[in-house]
Amino acid sequence: MSSAQRNAASCALQMDSCQKVMLLWLALVPLLVAGDPVVEYHAICDAGSTGTRLYVFALDLAAGKAESVFVKKTKPGLSSYVDDPKKAVAPLLQLLIEGSEKVPLDQRSKVPLLIFGTAGMRMLPKKKQDSIWASLIHVYEDKSYPFDRAHVIARTVSGDEEGLWAVLTTNFLTGRMGHDLLSHGSSAPLGLLDLGGSSTQIGIPSAAAAAKGINFSDGVMVKSYLGFGMTHIREEVRKESSDGTDSSCYMKGTPVDGRSGTGDGSLCRRLINRLLQQKSQTCRLESAHSEPCLGDLSSSALEAVQGSVDFFGVSGLTYVADFARWWASQQAPNHPATKAFLEAYPRPTLAELEAVIDLMCAGDYSWVDKQTQQKSTAHQFTAEDNAPYRCFQANYMLILLREIYGFPKDARKVTFALEASGEDLEWPLGALLHRRATFPAFPAPPPMNPAYGEL
Ligand SMILES: *[C@@H]1O[C@H](CO)[C@@H](O)[C@H](O)[C@H]1NC(C)=O
Repeated sequence: MSSAQRNAASCALQMDSCQKVMLLWLALVPLLVAGDPVVEYHAICDAGSTGTRLYVFALDLAAGKAESVFVKKTKPGLSSYVDDPKKAVAPLLQLLIEGSEKVPLDQRSKVPLLIFGTAGMRMLPKKKQDSIWASLIHVYEDKSYPFDRAHVIARTVSGDEEGLWAVLTTNFLTGRMGHDLLSHGSSAPLGLLDLGGSSTQIGIPSAAAAAKGINFSDGVMVKSYLGFGMTHIREEVRKESSDGTDSSCYMKGTPVDGRSGTGDGSLCRRLINRLLQQKSQTCRLESAHSEPCLGDLSSSALEAVQGSVDFFGVSGLTYVADFARWWASQQAPNHPATKAFLEAYPRPTLAELEAVIDLMCAGDYSWVDKQTQQKSTAHQFTAEDNAPYRCFQANYMLILLREIYGFPKDARKVTFALEASGEDLEWPLGALLHRRATFPAFPAPPPMNPAYGEL
């Protein structure tokens, strides 16, 4: 309690004798409120399998905006330190110190920190995860730790949490949701589609979130399908096609295991579709209730896909769609399919997308190969490890969106994007907004023992 508050409290007991003090205190209140910072700083680490990325956000509560004032990744990922967790301490501390320099000096020691481990950590046995989290106490206890050491949360998070938070980030950055998670009621809520190397996710907010004041975190449906990422599916299709029928899935002339790509989009899609339908059927038979099977969307999710919700397609989806844009704008700029696509991008219909993907796959791989050898001419999201597979990935994306998720062919439902309002469409911002809104006294009290992994 401040002395002004104490005086006010005692005034309640002896009204007459201290009315003056009370008046003085009331006069001071507006000054005190005005003196409170409306910008809060928050630090959050995305501890992924390949590295730990620190974001420091400045959250402007008055304007309802967030800006990342620092983003940087340290490699390798926390899970790589499994055999010697202590080694994780120094690089992480270094990163935090560097990030803290972007926070005004008088605010630094008030900054809460979240460190959330994702897929790489989830793959480790629980005991190993715990020993990594516990070793990080040496980060918070180090005398050079720059942030609020009483307010640290470090733990492994689930794929569903990531999905929920990414949906929140998307709706916050596009002005649909306030920092309190409540809907502005301005436009259709946004869902999120994500495609990585080993899994794919869909996150769908409740259609009710279109109405002002509805809490966006209520009724979000998230499904994560492990084993349905683009690398994984490509390898399976490769294995199933010992006769080389999957050559159709590679641009003309792409070397694939001694064969050469033939670039036939529709043939490729039939092949992928057959395999996926088989896979999801087997999945339904085998894993009765445990793992979600690809394509098992509830009726309300289907409704969202067909109408009430729009979507952002992030990560792999955007790398692939943007690769098709890059190819077509240079190799077939005057083709009517390219013109229609470029006009619509980043929000093409699936029909427009398919037309350009067919053109691209039928194109010569040698040009892509040459462009990719130099960073200055390569596609900005495509290095040599992915270039030969973009045609396959693009066709897989079409099957996923159309046959599995059921997006209508001629509607503009998916916007391909990596950022909105200059910020990454990733889960960390949503995670801190959610944490902040769910625990009004954010940040929460610190754990009393070093078992951070338990939180
Ligand atoms: C939104 O919902 C979450 C739980 O899902 C809750 O903790 C939070 O307080 C709600 N926010 C508001 C502003 O009502």
